[in-house]
Amino acid sequence: MFTSKITGLGHYVPENVVTNDDLSKLMDTNDAWIQERTGIKERRHIKKGDGNSTSVMAVKASKIALERANVSPKEIDMIVFATLSPDMYFPGGGVQVQELMGMRTIPALDVRNQCSGFVYAMSVADQFIKTGMYKNILVIGAENHSGGLDFTTRGRGVSVIFGDGAGAAVVSRNEGEGGILSTHLHSEGEHKDQLSLQGPSTEYWVPEIIEKNPQEDIPYYPYMDGQFVFKHAVVRFAEVINEGLKANNLEASDIDMLIPHQANLRISQFIQKKMRLSDDQVFNNIQKYGNTTAASIPIALSEAWEEGKIKEGDLVVLAAFGSGFTWGSVIMRW
Ligand code: ACO
Repeated sequence: MFTSKITGLGHYVPENVVTNDDLSKLMDTNDAWIQERTGIKERRHIKKGDGNSTSVMAVKASKIALERANVSPKEIDMIVFATLSPDMYFPGGGVQVQELMGMRTIPALDVRNQCSGFVYAMSVADQFIKTGMYKNILVIGAENHSGGLDFTTRGRGVSVIFGDGAGAAVVSRNEGEGGILSTHLHSEGEHKDQLSLQGPSTEYWVPEIIEKNPQEDIPYYPYMDGQFVFKHAVVRFAEVINEGLKANNLEASDIDMLIPHQANLRISQFIQKKMRLSDDQVFNNIQKYGNTTAASIPIALSEAWEEGKIKEGDLVVLAAFGSGFTWGSVIMRW
């Protein structure tokens, strides 16, 4: 049995910065409300004509990750792409990355686990490497949220939270010490409606959406019961981090860097307090980018690494909770 390790990280966010004041020109909101409830100061949105899309941003992040891993596109054996906002309804974004990166005929798998997408994708990559089937896997999280949000006052409870961006990791067969120690995944479909986008889908197909009165029922914009999500998130995050630590006979105090999915600064601070972690043990960048769903962990991981906050031998924990509900963690020795 082999083990796997992240050998390169990269991220990309669009240049267009959208501040809370910018949003308050579109809807009835304000900087104080957004900062107090979410910690978010600004986020990035794709600008019409800037050439970005979910797959294009994914490729930009991937090229940086490959270069840092010193791995050529030809050496990648598989793509695992987590997104809830692919460029097309089908096929998924993975094949677009495969084409744009010129990666021969390698398999491309899309993961549909929303905010937990990158953690699920890392776990999938880890299994393929453990068995010896593949040596290098490109794992991506990328989202174009701004293209599908309601920027009127009606959508303010959701639209102020989300941003666009992409992050990527090259996961390789581990030749040395450390690497991924374990991954832990869960879901609870009972709560699927509490954070969801219901159409277009086979349930709500386009003619049906057009017929509906958009003032009453708008299944083509995301819905979130914020307080319900908050209550579940704080429990599940802590649970799945502790599950991972216990599986490896580790304690919270052993964590050198926790990269939580950047859902909401209040959620991260709640977990930090609950687990008695210091500011140095937890990385947050939601203030700059908002919640980028499947992209938030790889963007944060890449930034923490760039800032020198992750060093050889560190115990790094990734943890996510999101729509589904789904949640999971990755425990690794850098
Ligand atoms: N600006 C100003 N006022 C707003 C806004 C806004 N953007 N959005 C909602 N409000 C108003 C509401 O209309 C409501 O007004 P009312 O009292 O007159 O009816 C008031 O603010 C309070 O609304 P709530 O929805 O109760 O606000 P809450 O305090 O719960 O904060 C939030 C909302 C930030 C979403 C909170 O529930 C939360 O932190 N939830 C966690 C979920 C989360 O962060 N999800 C992120 C994505 S999911 C994930 O990644 C897992």
